[in-house]
Amino acid sequence: MCGIIGYSGEKEAVPILLNGLKNLEYRGYDSCGVSVLYENKLHTKKDLLKVREFGKTHSFDSVPGKKGIGHTRWATHGGAKKENAHPHLSGDGKISVVHNGIIENFLEQKRFLEGKGFVFQSETDSEVIPKMIEYQMQKGLDFTRAVKQSFGLLEGQYAVVALHEDGKMVALRKEAPLVVGVGEADGEYFVSSDVTGFLDHSKNAIFLEENDMVVIDDGFSIFNLDKNRFVDRPVTGLDWSAEEAKKGNFEHFYLKEVFEQARVLEDLSKKDMGTILEVAVEIAKAKKVYVVACGTASYGCMHGVYLFSKIAGVHVDFCVASEFHHFFKFLDSESMIFAVSQSGETADTLSAIRIAKSKGAKVVSVTNVVGSSLARESDKVILQGAGPEMAVNSTKAYTSQLAIFVLLAYAVDGRIDEGIEKLRDVPRQISYLTSENARGFVNGLAEKLKDQEHLFLIGRGLQYPTALEAAHKIKEVSYIHTEAFAAGELKHGANALITDGMPYIVFVSEETEKATMNNAMEVKSRGAFLIGVGPKNNDVFDFFIKVPEAGVFNPVVQIIPMQIVAYQLALLRGCDPDFPRNLAKSVTVR
Ligand code: F6R
Repeated sequence: MCGIIGYSGEKEAVPILLNGLKNLEYRGYDSCGVSVLYENKLHTKKDLLKVREFGKTHSFDSVPGKKGIGHTRWATHGGAKKENAHPHLSGDGKISVVHNGIIENFLEQKRFLEGKGFVFQSETDSEVIPKMIEYQMQKGLDFTRAVKQSFGLLEGQYAVVALHEDGKMVALRKEAPLVVGVGEADGEYFVSSDVTGFLDHSKNAIFLEENDMVVIDDGFSIFNLDKNRFVDRPVTGLDWSAEEAKKGNFEHFYLKEVFEQARVLEDLSKKDMGTILEVAVEIAKAKKVYVVACGTASYGCMHGVYLFSKIAGVHVDFCVASEFHHFFKFLDSESMIFAVSQSGETADTLSAIRIAKSKGAKVVSVTNVVGSSLARESDKVILQGAGPEMAVNSTKAYTSQLAIFVLLAYAVDGRIDEGIEKLRDVPRQISYLTSENARGFVNGLAEKLKDQEHLFLIGRGLQYPTALEAAHKIKEVSYIHTEAFAAGELKHGANALITDGMPYIVFVSEETEKATMNNAMEVKSRGAFLIGVGPKNNDVFDFFIKVPEAGVFNPVVQIIPMQIVAYQLALLRGCDPDFPRNLAKSVTVR
């Protein structure tokens, strides 16, 4: 949520900052802005524009400074307005700040600063930061000490980069992601919300720890505020390529990432299974296992519950991470919390593992991002290896999570080779489902659905969480109201919603066919328009999408046409599949 970037080096800062912001834009895109230091003065521009338009509208030609900071915003405190865009400045204009996170006591501190004569320009919590730093400097502290002192007073979660017109840059993280990129040239540094902000320039990253404060001036140092001393942090070589984080020949990241799924799962099938086997041992040993996640990853977890039960006869509990606070009392030192998060930075998921840790539980995670908070705070991590997922909507990370759950369940049952064998068939099936022919056919469904206001989706067993995720995907990108139900539940209430021609997508597999088709007929006999997704057509369907029967991998193959129909619906309804309204990737606020 919100992308922040800082650059200090010998190159012209603005093109680097704008390029970084473009790559970080999936974190928020309500507005953006840049401050650049040139001839000992900060030059700041911000606007209610996406980064590309911002770059075209605002020229920085006359300020070729070599130090600067930038921000792309997802509004939290204060609406999407130009004055709320970052960077925010101190009253004297000598300090510029970009911020991701929340300053919880900002109102109290704002009143205090107003009492000291400071005038605020925005409705944001973030603006208290430069003003508080300025106030601390007025009291005689130097810039670094003033930043440190300010964050002793400002409560909340934050990743911040502050730039002073004397050339010093200070960056700080507390419960919000911040990574340093180490440039090739001596003394060249990047500070960014995540590595995609600087991947075009550096593949060497320093993942900051909680309460690390980075100071970049003539030198570079990291001071940890908890330890109250300077610390060394290792430089990690990144194996993501800059190309992976680009659209290439695709119009949207979303479609590119849908296509990448065959390759991602093929890579997974060839991966060293050591960690999966180790985690399986821990799962088998644990007295209680809680799987937690948010959004799409939570539907991955729901599949996990079914898969552990089906394949290994093991029960695990599931809870959406944002609700986990109401359940943690069940945990003890013999329990495990199993967290799944593409970004590894989702605040609710992190909060769940922290609470579980405080009860002595073991923390295991699945994440796509090396060095993420989740990866660093877990006892064991399964890395997805799906490559950067840039579209706000999760596709390839989701199917790789599903495949990891299958492998884990087989591993818990001592049959991982069987799981790998089954996984080997899946990339070919995905390639077929993403072929031009298959896509063309699915696009025909999008044509039929494009003017609908409501869409219902049903399934049983593994097809129930698939229906939930398909509903999630379609509503996120096309803004059609979708709802998914366990097929057997319809007659307990939701059947009241059926009207003539109301579309229902019915997910079927060999295992669930009989019972699900009964429910489908009930719906059909009340006038619904039925769309079947499964291995076998049926007269009752008005539209049918054939997918191969893939057993425990049905959730993977059945979601592919749904990802495609969601994409096509977005295009037909004039929505941007990469940037759905009101959403952002990597939800770092609770
Ligand atoms: C949906 C989507 C979100 C995320 C959710 C969790 O397409 O992308 O629902 O799945 O915000 O994000 P991570 O997996 O990063 O924890």
